[in-house]
Amino acid sequence: MSDAPMKIAVLAGDGTGPEVVAEGLKVLKAVSEKESFTYELTDFDFGGERYLRTGEVLPDGAVDELRKFDSIYLGAVGHPQVAPGILEKGLLLQLRFELDQYINLRPVKLYPGVETPLAGKTPEDIDFVVVRENTEGLYCGNGGYLKKHTPDEVATQMAIYTRKGCERCIRYAFEYTRKRNSPKKMLTLVAKTNVLTYGHDLWMRTFEEVAKDYPDVKTDYNHVDACCMWMVKSPEYYDVIVTPNMFGDIITDLGAMLQGGLGVAAGGNINPDEGGTSMFEPMGGSAPKYTGQNVINPIAAIAAVGMLLEQSGQSAAAKRIETAIQSVTGTKMKSQSAGKMGYGTKEVGDLVVEAL
Ligand code: IPM
Ligand code: MN
Repeated sequence: MSDAPMKIAVLAGDGTGPEVVAEGLKVLKAVSEKESFTYELTDFDFGGERYLRTGEVLPDGAVDELRKFDSIYLGAVGHPQVAPGILEKGLLLQLRFELDQYINLRPVKLYPGVETPLAGKTPEDIDFVVVRENTEGLYCGNGGYLKKHTPDEVATQMAIYTRKGCERCIRYAFEYTRKRNSPKKMLTLVAKTNVLTYGHDLWMRTFEEVAKDYPDVKTDYNHVDACCMWMVKSPEYYDVIVTPNMFGDIITDLGAMLQGGLGVAAGGNINPDEGGTSMFEPMGGSAPKYTGQNVINPIAAIAAVGMLLEQSGQSAAAKRIETAIQSVTGTKMKSQSAGKMGYGTKEVGDLVVEAL
């Protein structure tokens, strides 16, 4: 770790994004004082409002500008007046690809006091991490139409898997499992090798080869459909899951529900390479109907700050935030749903700061 201030780009975005980001930054400030590190924030106004005003999602040069930062802290994108897909593709996916954030890291952790829809399951049972490949598979945007808008229309949407792409993701997941060092110390590959006999065969062969470098990590395989059943029936089975892009998208939303909903779930789009720029976000979206009411849950956005600090080498600060969140969910908040927390957005932020 150098002593230079951490450079963080803040993309608060749309809807409730700015409200939850404000609480995350409040916690960042407080924890930086306790752990004596410094940082610099730079705001960017990318999102739906700017798009409506200017007609562009990311202006020319924006990606190269963002590349200079250590991390990006993203609130939410999504605007009721912007057609679905424009901001998602033009901002979120664009940044993932351009900044080569090839890992999507999604901890699925039930905090104390948080209600899970799974009867009888406790924080001891729901505590695993999904490592989703974030730049390939069905998300690569390779496809097109023939005879569009005719009865003979053909559409193709190609999944692309590369040896390099799956290997770097699988290797990251093995390293992560080793470092996490849970008693299970098990990495589960989740794919569909019985049907996707080319792409997921590449994943399986790569998984088996990379596993040889990690004899201390137990390896395991689930088909994605079976994984959905096990996540609900026996979430305690899992330690770390590694999976291609689209399956990762689906099972992480299932995971978000298990851990108490989108108000709690945070994720990282990580480029773990030297000098890479990673982006952290609450999973909740822009929630337009709750905007400006001080009712949205900031816990996920605060947890995203924790992940950002962990990735930046500030593990003690990250741990402090996680412990504080657990104390607030466990002893203060009534619910994790917007408007039912027993506190407002700002008050929940204050509680986390107090608990630091
Ligand atoms: C996510 C989101 C995105 C995805 C959307 C907004 C494009 O659902 O981060 O999981 O599908 O990856
Ligand atoms: Mn998703």
